Amino acid sequence: MDYSSSLSSLSFHFNSFRASANSFLSQYEPLLLLLAPLFSLILAHLLRSFFNLIHERGLKASLLGFLMSSVKLIPGVKSYIDREKQKVVDKMQSDGKSKREGWRTELPSTGLGTLVLEKMKEEKRKDVAWQGKCSGTVYIGGSEIDGHFSLINEACSMFAHTNPLHLDVFQSVGRFEAEVVAMTAALLGSQEKSSGGQVCGNMTSGGTESILLAVKSSRDYMKSKKGITRPEMIIPVSAHSAYDKAAQYFNIKLWRVPVNKDFQADVKAIRRHINKNTILIVGSAPGFPHGIIDPIEELGQLASSFGICLHVDLCLGGFVLPFARELGYA
Ligand SMILES: Cc1ncc(COP(=O)(O)O)c(C=O)c1O
Repeated sequence: MDYSSSLSSLSFHFNSFRASANSFLSQYEPLLLLLAPLFSLILAHLLRSFFNLIHERGLKASLLGFLMSSVKLIPGVKSYIDREKQKVVDKMQSDGKSKREGWRTELPSTGLGTLVLEKMKEEKRKDVAWQGKCSGTVYIGGSEIDGHFSLINEACSMFAHTNPLHLDVFQSVGRFEAEVVAMTAALLGSQEKSSGGQVCGNMTSGGTESILLAVKSSRDYMKSKKGITRPEMIIPVSAHSAYDKAAQYFNIKLWRVPVNKDFQADVKAIRRHINKNTILIVGSAPGFPHGIIDPIEELGQLASSFGICLHVDLCLGGFVLPFARELGYA
């Protein structure tokens, strides 16, 4: 078949398609034909928003949200809810006011000088006696003036003025940090050949920053490894609230999964939430609310079978767990 005959066959098919389409559409009003694509677009937009909402908040939360919004449409219900909310806010504010009696809200006209130390001591005396009673709050025990405490106080005051950003000035601080990271990496196998030199780390300001960095690293790693652009992570309800912060800061959908009857992470329940967007699952050793250790090995196997990241939160002293038995604590 030559070029001109294929062109005329194409034009024949197009004309017959046009004729039958026009004859089919002629039964509808022109206005209807004009509005139909508009309605289809609006419907597609609504459906997309609905599925996005379910994806972001889950089916149960979306339905509950919808129910609550509908209930608020009943006359009087919204104003009743607003009044009750205001009562709670007023109560919280009046409680807070009595505690803040005598608080300074502006700079004093003359400086306090060394008197400031007396003032601070006076306020400190009103703090709750925490010794031996504040699990997960103060990480060192004993008297505040001797033993381990005084050693830490002396070390901290020696370096209180330093700024580790300027390692050329504070070489000592740079060295301490590098040594702590290297020693920790060695405990995790960095000197074994099989590690392939892949064990690394950095110092953070505490548990929350450690969690934030672990979540961010997992998000970035899984984006480059699997191209995940709508990341999700799954954590037990017992995991620390720093994961909620991380989810909000780094735009990650968070699934909080109930724990099992022993208050440990429920590996089967976590498995049920894994999908193509999952970047990370989490276990704590031990967890913040109960001091219970999650089944870390099982979580590790689950993560590696799906090729996703596992973060183990050791913020509450989990670092010493491998040595606890050797030291006779278990
Ligand atoms: C298990 C666990 N994770 C994270 C954190 C957060 O640590 P930080 O208070 O140092 O930010 C804590 C704090 O107690 C914790 O116990």
